[in-house]
Amino acid sequence: MTNENTLPGNDAGELSGFAALGISGALLKATAAAGFTEPKPIQVQAIPPQLEGRDIFGIAQTGSGKTAAFALPILSKIIGLGTKRRPRTARALILAPTRELAVQIEDTIKLLAKGAHISTALVLGGVSRFSQVKKIGPGVDVLIATPGRLTDLVREGDLILADTKWLVLDEGDRMLDMGFINDVKRIAKATAPDRQTALFSATMPDEIAELAKGLLKNPVRIEVAPQSTAAAEIVQSVVLARTKQKRQVLSKMLADEAMHSVIVFSRTKHGADRVTKDLARDGFEAAVIHGNKSQNARQKALNDFRDGSVRILVATDIAARGIDVPGISHVVNFDLPDEAESYVHRIGRTGRNGRDGIAITLCDPSENAKLRQVERIIRMKLPVVADHLGSPDPQRDPREKTERHFEPVNDREHHGGRRDGRRPGNGGDMKRFGAKPNGERGPKPQGERPAAAKPNGSGKPDGFKRFKGNNKRRFGGKRPANRAA
Ligand SMILES: Nc1ncnc2c1ncn2[C@@H]1O[C@H](COP(=O)(O)OP(=O)(O)OP(=O)(O)O)[C@@H](O)[C@H]1O
Ligand SMILES: [Mg+2]
Repeated sequence: MTNENTLPGNDAGELSGFAALGISGALLKATAAAGFTEPKPIQVQAIPPQLEGRDIFGIAQTGSGKTAAFALPILSKIIGLGTKRRPRTARALILAPTRELAVQIEDTIKLLAKGAHISTALVLGGVSRFSQVKKIGPGVDVLIATPGRLTDLVREGDLILADTKWLVLDEGDRMLDMGFINDVKRIAKATAPDRQTALFSATMPDEIAELAKGLLKNPVRIEVAPQSTAAAEIVQSVVLARTKQKRQVLSKMLADEAMHSVIVFSRTKHGADRVTKDLARDGFEAAVIHGNKSQNARQKALNDFRDGSVRILVATDIAARGIDVPGISHVVNFDLPDEAESYVHRIGRTGRNGRDGIAITLCDPSENAKLRQVERIIRMKLPVVADHLGSPDPQRDPREKTERHFEPVNDREHHGGRRDGRRPGNGGDMKRFGAKPNGERGPKPQGERPAAAKPNGSGKPDGFKRFKGNNKRRFGGKRPANRAA
C-alpha cells in the first residue's frame, strides 16, 4: 500500500525529496504538482529546523528557492493544527517590502498548498482596504503583507496579531533597514510571544544582521553562499558610456533579438519614465513600473511583462527584489543603484532557478565609485566589455522635446536610509515624520477611508500622535489618510 507520506518510486520505502525533509500529505502532492520534486539547497537546510520550531536566519542567492523554504514548513505546521482560527487573526504573517512581491508570495503559497485547505489573504497599500478587512474578518491561516497597511489595520483594530505564531521577513535586510524597521518592530511586538521567526535574503549587510538579532531567538544560521554572492549562472559585464550616450547604447543593444525578455533598471522614477519614452522614440515598446504609478498600472506592467506581451520592462528598484519572472534573459542597469546590495537583487531577476542570465551595467565615469562598491560586495571585478568613452555624444533629434535632467526630491525609490551614519537629507527625512518609503507609496487609492472616518479622540491631527517614540502607543495613533501604505 502506498503511504501518503512516502514519495512514489522509492522501493526501499525510504523518504526522498521533500518528504525526506518532513513535508507530507496534500502539501507534498501539491508541491510535486507545482514541479518541485528535488528540494533546493536552501530548502534542504531551512525546512527541517523550521519544522522543529527553530528561528531561521537564511541567506541564499537570488532565484534559489527561498520562498518555498519558508512557506512549506509554515504550511505544514498549520495543516497539523487542530485549533480554530479566531476572528480577525492570522496564524502566520509574511512581510515583504513591495506589494508586487507580496502578491507573488501569495500566488506561490496558493500553488504549494493547493488542496490543503489553507486560507490566505493579502494586506497591502494602494488598493481598497475594505476587501482586505473583509477577507481577514473570519481569521486567516497565512497573511502576506507590506508593513504600512498592516500597521494601519492593526492600529484600527481590524487585525489582531496576538495569535500569530509564525513571522517571516522576506527580503529581511530590506525589512530591517530604516524605511521599515519601526513598523516591523511594532508588528513583531504585537505577535504571539512564543512566535517562530524566519528571515531570508540574498544580501545581509553586517549592521542589519546585528538588528536582526533583536527579532530572532537563537536562530539557525544558514548561508548557502556568502551574502551578496550573485548566482553563478549570471554572466555580468560593464559597458562604459557617458550618460548622454546611454540611450543610444541601450537601443543598439536591444536591436539584438537574443535579448528576448529584458528588465532595464533606472535609479530614479523620472529616469525610468525618460528611458521608456526614449525607447518608444527608438521603436521599442516597453512597460514601466515605479512608485509614482498607480497600483493597477504597476501590477499591469509586471503582468504584461510576465506573460510576454511586452518584451521590455523599465523599472526602478521596486522591482529589484524577489520578483520571479522565469525566463528573463537580460538585466540592464541603465545606471548604478545608490546601494550596492540593490545591484545583487537587480541582476538576480535573471539567472533564476539554474537558468542562464546576462546582466549588463552601463557606467558613466561619475558612477565609478558606485561600481567599485558593487565589486567590493560581490567580491569580484566586473569585466568591461565595451568602452564608448572615446566616441562623441550622439546628437539628439531637435524635434524631440528636450527634458531637463534634474532630480526632484523624492525621485528615487526609497532604499531604507543610509548606512554611512549620516542623517538623510530632504527626501530621506520625510519618512521620519510619516511619509512612506516610496516603494510603498502610490497615488491615493480609491476607497481609502478619509482620516476623519475614525476619529482618534485626541482632537489633534493624527500624524502628531505617531512619531513620539513611545512604544506604549504602538498601534495607538492613526496614519494620515494620504499615507497610502
Ligand atoms: N525545489 C524546487 N524545484 C523546482 N523549482 C523550484 C524549487 N524551488 C523553487 N523553485 C522555483 O525557483 C524560482 C525561484 O524561487 P524563489 O522566487 O523562491 O527564489 P528566491 O530565492 O526567493 O529569490 P529572490 O532572492 O530573488 O527573492 C521560482 O520560479 C520557483 O518556482
Ligand atoms: Mg524571494
